[in-house]
Amino acid sequence: MSDDKVQDKETGRGRSVYRWLYAGLLAILLILGGTVLGRMDTVARLLGVAQQPGAARLADEKAAKARETFQETTANLGADGVALAGLSIPTGADGYFAPPLESEMPSKQDGESIRRGREIFLNPGANATDYVGNSLACANCHLDAGRRANAAPMWAAAGLYPKYRGKNDQINTMEDRINGCFTYSMNAPQSPSGGPPPAGDQIYKDLESYFHWLATGAPNRTKLPGQGFPSLDEPADGYDRTRGQAVFAQRCALCHGENGEGRQDINGRYAFPPLWGPDSYNWGAGMHRVNTAAGFIYANMPLGQPFSLTVQEAWDVAAYINSHERPPDPRQPAQGLSVTEADAQFHQHKGYYGDTLDGTVVGVGVGADPSGTPSATGIVVPEQ
Ligand code: HEC
Ligand code: HEC
Repeated sequence: MSDDKVQDKETGRGRSVYRWLYAGLLAILLILGGTVLGRMDTVARLLGVAQQPGAARLADEKAAKARETFQETTANLGADGVALAGLSIPTGADGYFAPPLESEMPSKQDGESIRRGREIFLNPGANATDYVGNSLACANCHLDAGRRANAAPMWAAAGLYPKYRGKNDQINTMEDRINGCFTYSMNAPQSPSGGPPPAGDQIYKDLESYFHWLATGAPNRTKLPGQGFPSLDEPADGYDRTRGQAVFAQRCALCHGENGEGRQDINGRYAFPPLWGPDSYNWGAGMHRVNTAAGFIYANMPLGQPFSLTVQEAWDVAAYINSHERPPDPRQPAQGLSVTEADAQFHQHKGYYGDTLDGTVVGVGVGADPSGTPSATGIVVPEQ
């Protein structure tokens, strides 16, 4: 054998060793990548859609047809022979009301307001900047841009107002209700303007247009299945923030951060919203109540794994996140009350407001971050 040939052979063997090495590495990468992707909600959802069975497509088509019949029938009401009988409620494969698809959004003038409303809902920090005093978005709690059943969907809310609310002991219009979520969930008192949008503001009109459109084909004055968050009976064992801490570390911290501070992308915008601290909802928000948060969490968290916690775990982890400081209940400073007085007046429900935990009274509140980093979900609407 010539020297050349020996060398060729060796190099050939060397190459095949490398080939095996590369193949091995690729296999490991694929397994790791597959595991990570498999855990990601979006991918799972995409796969879900890709494997959508015939029944789901059929339900979609039926829902679209029901909407079409609804539009036609209501447009022709009063004409001879047109009756409401035969109208059916558009229903998705999951059995809940099916709001219209994004692709069905009207393109004409009313579509503009609907579209603006959607973008405010996804990213109020950018599209209603003056009235937002934290880093949350409406869609952080009302998931899927307000479409998700059991996450207080807007198609279910749209037909329920005007309605009496115990919180302010009066009839609330939809504008009042939105004003409430700005004031407490979005912490408007610490926003650049110092409050929610003024009465009659275009922001309310746009949001209402969007909700109204989502509810196309839904009956009015009817509490639809999937409305609000599920209400869970308190477990026999009550709720316990120490047990909740363990649930939090295992099931939530990965996304929301060890200290519930959320996670920001490289531009400082939140990919995972904060659960407590200066950038979260304030002490007056519905979500600070342990029962309300438990219902939301049970049905929606961890994201992509709904209904995976036990009812007990949901209550405990809700107690844990709501035992931490957050911006003050705006009614307390506004009405010149002490925390104890505000506790007696506004907090006769399940929560820690005004309690002494680990030697400190909670509810005093932490200030909003003045740099006001907006949330990352959604598109910025150009100045009108
Ligand atoms: C921190 C979470 C959170 C954020 C952020 C939030 N909300 Fe809410 N919202 C709630 C809770 C809690 C309720 C009460 C749900 C219930 O009673 O079951 C609610 C209820 C509502 C309702 C009434 C729903 C119904 O079925 O009666 C509307 C409308 C609403 N929110 C609009 C908004 C808008 C608009 C924004 C953004 C400007 C917003 N919310 C931001 C938590 C939030
Ligand atoms: C896979 C990541 C992930 C995990 C794990 C997760 N969340 Fe979330 N959570 C999110 C995202 C993202 C949102 C905002 C949803 C949106 O905008 O679509 C959210 C929203 C929330 C909200 C409402 C918004 C806010 O900031 O207050 C609460 C409360 C919440 N999560 C609690 C929990 C709890 C408690 C757990 C553990 C049981 C948990 N989450 C686990 C990703 C996650």
